[in-house]
Amino acid sequence: MSHLVAPSILSCDFAHVGRDVEMVSSSGADWIHVDVMDGMFVPNMSFGLPVVEAMKRHSSIPLDVHLMVAQPERYLSHFKEAGADVITIHLEACIHLHAAVQQIHKLGAKAGVAINPSTPIFQLVEILPDIEVVCLMSVNPGWGGQSFIPGSLSRISRLKALIGKTNSKALIEVDGGVKLDNAQEILNAGADVLVSGSGVFGQPDPAAAIQTLKNLKKA
Ligand code: DX5
Ligand code: ZN
Repeated sequence: MSHLVAPSILSCDFAHVGRDVEMVSSSGADWIHVDVMDGMFVPNMSFGLPVVEAMKRHSSIPLDVHLMVAQPERYLSHFKEAGADVITIHLEACIHLHAAVQQIHKLGAKAGVAINPSTPIFQLVEILPDIEVVCLMSVNPGWGGQSFIPGSLSRISRLKALIGKTNSKALIEVDGGVKLDNAQEILNAGADVLVSGSGVFGQPDPAAAIQTLKNLKKA
């Protein structure tokens, strides 16, 4: 399978969110990455349910909703109703992770589990066979525009090995600091899904940047 590109809408112009969602969904991107921050799990706040619902109305591609939210199980059905196709919750935010993953599946969405840069990869071992996506954070969650943490490359390779060992089909989504100039090495390390916010929207032609990411070849 070739890799997927999931531009993060967090870096769009929120005065023109419908326009930017339409641009992403007609640019050859595979998913739109939607970062929800609650001011508790992460210090920052972004946007919530009504905004996700509005984005859905302008998108023709799946919404990949990344919940940086404490106790995310409180909101799973709400985000599914708002239009989430992939729902990703943080391992660090959820005590009953397996039950939450079951709930996501029951709602009819794909389940993702995100892990912070300091969380050991092996903590995913039990959940890997049950999920469709691992969102490996390559920055500390909370803000767009941060630099890729270099140690993330070896975390991607170690995660890929663990996925193989556990007979999991989970895709490795890399989130944070992914830019045109480091995306190839991230793919070479084993990434399946590239999330990029400022790396796309910081370019003079964001649609062309999405195409450039899409045209890279997976190792
Ligand atoms: C960080 C978010 C990311 C963010 C990535 O908390 O989860 O999805 O939007 O932004 P860039 O690509 O600018 O690092
Ligand atoms: Zn994200």
